[in-house]
Amino acid sequence: MSRLAILVSGRGTNMEAICRKIESGELPADLTFIASDNPEAAGLQKAQKAGVRIEVLPYHKVNRKAAEEHLARLIKETETEWIVLAGFMKILSSEFVRQHQGKIVNIHPSILPSFQGAKGIEDAWNYGVKITGVTVHLVDEEVDHGIILAQRPVIVEESDSIEDLEEKIHSVEHEIYWKTLKELIEGNLVKIEGRRAFIG
Ligand code: GAR
Repeated sequence: MSRLAILVSGRGTNMEAICRKIESGELPADLTFIASDNPEAAGLQKAQKAGVRIEVLPYHKVNRKAAEEHLARLIKETETEWIVLAGFMKILSSEFVRQHQGKIVNIHPSILPSFQGAKGIEDAWNYGVKITGVTVHLVDEEVDHGIILAQRPVIVEESDSIEDLEEKIHSVEHEIYWKTLKELIEGNLVKIEGRRAFIG
């Protein structure tokens, strides 16, 4: 069974959605650990309650290098194959990304390359777009830039508040992420040509 770890910084609803699919057997994977840069992350507390191994990466106490070394040791020790970023808000170094090339996956709450960065939903909302959405992509050395694996649109209705939009985006995220991970784990990413990924 493929082994995956999840990294979170905040609420962890994407993490929970993935965990549910692992538990139900729909996502055929073993969860090795859940780690966070933020010791206060609600996601970490939820994982602990669920009995999953949790780890705090020492970004706050030391620095990125030490935190990434800690993460790399965990990955090796637990024989983790896939590193799943689920609202993980630290930027991984080029060196770390190169060492785990093609094995780090991220979800972003916009249709990339629009609205990269930490506030994808708010930025799209403020820009006044009528369609935004969700992207799942491989992580490369640039922020919110790697090969796109899946995207889903979300319509912004005039009556939507920003909270409504957030809710719509999150519910799409919770469906698209585990399905894309399943494709990857099952080896259905058949080729990448330039920036185009072919899945299925
Ligand atoms: C999600 O909307 C995710 O797409 C976003 O953080 C949120 C985390 O929510 N990630 C980024 O913006 C990455 N650039 P969650 O903690 O409830 O899963």
